[in-house]
Amino acid sequence: MRKKLIAGNWKMNLTADEGRALALALRSQIEPDAPVLLRDREVMVAPPFVAIPAVAQALAGSPIALGAQNVHYEERGAFTGEVSAPMLLPFGVKFVILGHSERRHIFDEDDALIARKVGAALSHGLTPILCVGETAQEHDEGRALEVVLGQLDRGLEGTASAAALDGRMAIAYEPVWAIGTGRNASPEDAEAVHRAIRARLAERLGREAAAITRILYGGSVTPQNVDVLAGRPDIDGVLVGGASLKADSFARIIRARTG
Ligand code: 13P
Repeated sequence: MRKKLIAGNWKMNLTADEGRALALALRSQIEPDAPVLLRDREVMVAPPFVAIPAVAQALAGSPIALGAQNVHYEERGAFTGEVSAPMLLPFGVKFVILGHSERRHIFDEDDALIARKVGAALSHGLTPILCVGETAQEHDEGRALEVVLGQLDRGLEGTASAAALDGRMAIAYEPVWAIGTGRNASPEDAEAVHRAIRARLAERLGREAAAITRILYGGSVTPQNVDVLAGRPDIDGVLVGGASLKADSFARIIRARTG
């Protein structure tokens, strides 16, 4: 039984002070009934790097996990502007979002680079959330599956099934045309892509690993549409941008009806 993962990607939003305030507000909204609420789901927030120390402090002792939005593949060295896994671990960072479409399209990250980052994350004990998704044009050309499965194959190049068998692997299907647009994939379409991703994971990593790997949906998830998305059997949670920036809306998303 896969636990759902409700993940907030804050992107380049919120200062350290604002992040701390949001983390504390989230705690007070969900902790009163966390033992029941979090029986079948996990929650994670991924602040900008410089807000991680403040948010880590605000979340100390809470069931809300911490993630990063990127990581470099090396541990140290002459890589101006980059941050490595060993720098994140002391703050209790557990997850790292990799291959997000904004990294791919604005910062030109390619699959080979993303695969190196996935490898580095896994070797340091971080859980990568590997993002895949087709653009509007690829979608309109009917190439969604080809693009998504290609990104999956290349992004997992070199990844052994042992890592996935630990349950330390997650995939996020984020159609680019749905990100920040208010236009989300229908639950039926998203479910079909998720099923195809799981079938490909079974081929690459084995059936057992595929069965425990969580596949999240991302792209204009809101309190209004989360129930129908997260209620699907192959949608193992959501990766939320805009609606994760306010405690009320993210708390409502965390409370998604999943059955
Ligand atoms: P929005 O929820 O703002 O569409 O962003 C989705 C996303 O990119 C999460 O990683």
